[in-house]
Amino acid sequence: MTAATPSSITLTRPDDWHLHVRDGAAMAAVVPDTARQFARAIVMPNLRPPVLTADQASGYRDRIRAAVPSGLSFEPLMVLYLTDNTPAEEVVRAKAMGAVAFKLYPAGATTNSDAGVTDLRKTYKALEAIQREGLVLCVHGEVTDGDVDVFDREKAFIDDKLIPLRRDFPELKVAFEHITTKEAAQYVNEADRFVGATITPQHLLYNRNAIFMGGVRPHYYCLPILKREEHRLALVQAATSGSAKFFLGTDSAPHASHLKEHASGCAGCYTAPCALELYAEVFEAAGALDKLEAFASFNGPDYYGLPRNTDQVTLVREDWVVPESLPFGEAQIKPLRGGETLHWRLR
Ligand code: NCD
Ligand code: ZN
Ligand code: ZN
Repeated sequence: MTAATPSSITLTRPDDWHLHVRDGAAMAAVVPDTARQFARAIVMPNLRPPVLTADQASGYRDRIRAAVPSGLSFEPLMVLYLTDNTPAEEVVRAKAMGAVAFKLYPAGATTNSDAGVTDLRKTYKALEAIQREGLVLCVHGEVTDGDVDVFDREKAFIDDKLIPLRRDFPELKVAFEHITTKEAAQYVNEADRFVGATITPQHLLYNRNAIFMGGVRPHYYCLPILKREEHRLALVQAATSGSAKFFLGTDSAPHASHLKEHASGCAGCYTAPCALELYAEVFEAAGALDKLEAFASFNGPDYYGLPRNTDQVTLVREDWVVPESLPFGEAQIKPLRGGETLHWRLR
């Protein structure tokens, strides 16, 4: 017998441990969507130009705070972009301004990663400082070699980069971002307490067929790319297992719809308007709604060493249609699931 579906779920207000909000008018358009759902979010630094210094992170934080609608409380948690040239002193300054992490983008791996790391050895002075200061290294875990199949790039990253890195920095906190494979889930599961991982709603909901159903569907294209069903199942298992190593990180990555529906479309799914609802759908389908609160609201702050939130949010069982398109600066943006009906709604 399955338990009856509850008509509402109340949980400690969640945080988003992996988010892109861009800057300028685009940022002003998307920050309210996240601030309505989450108390805090780890804000990714892959702007053009990237957020390289503590001063830049502090200025960016001010701009994000100014975009939060009055009546909502939302705190951006800042991340600096690691490069081949990040000095150890910048790590100390970052910690002093309240930044929580540095982000490793292998050069060329994803959106705005041209300034990323070309060779991990060039970052070892900075990594020593990150480890010493107790900051987190957030990692986009894909190799970038053109001869590695795009579906194999995460697994290759674990073997070729992550395992050697963790041997050299055993007490470095590594947040393996947006994991997409059973190999990554297994690696994280078996790792020690220094390793955690975020999982996105799209990687829990879809396999790679979604990109090709009835024609190319650019709004399902993100990086790391959606994988086979067996990987999706392993991610659902990890997220709903009760393990404290896995936590919510939407990777909501807004791009104007005309740049996604393009001959060379941008990678990223915009999920901020309905992120918590999408996760609830996943946990409900897995019969694990009782595990949602730890995944969404406890495991992330515990891993980062931050206090859990004390207020609550309520999801109700109510049908609503996600807007098909929303204003995005001068352009429009299409949220994932736009025009479709969801069965959970954040009150
Ligand atoms: C992200 C973006 O657009 O900034 N895109 C994505 O597909 N996930 C970058 C990233 O997180 O890799
Ligand atoms: Zn990434
Ligand atoms: Zn991202």
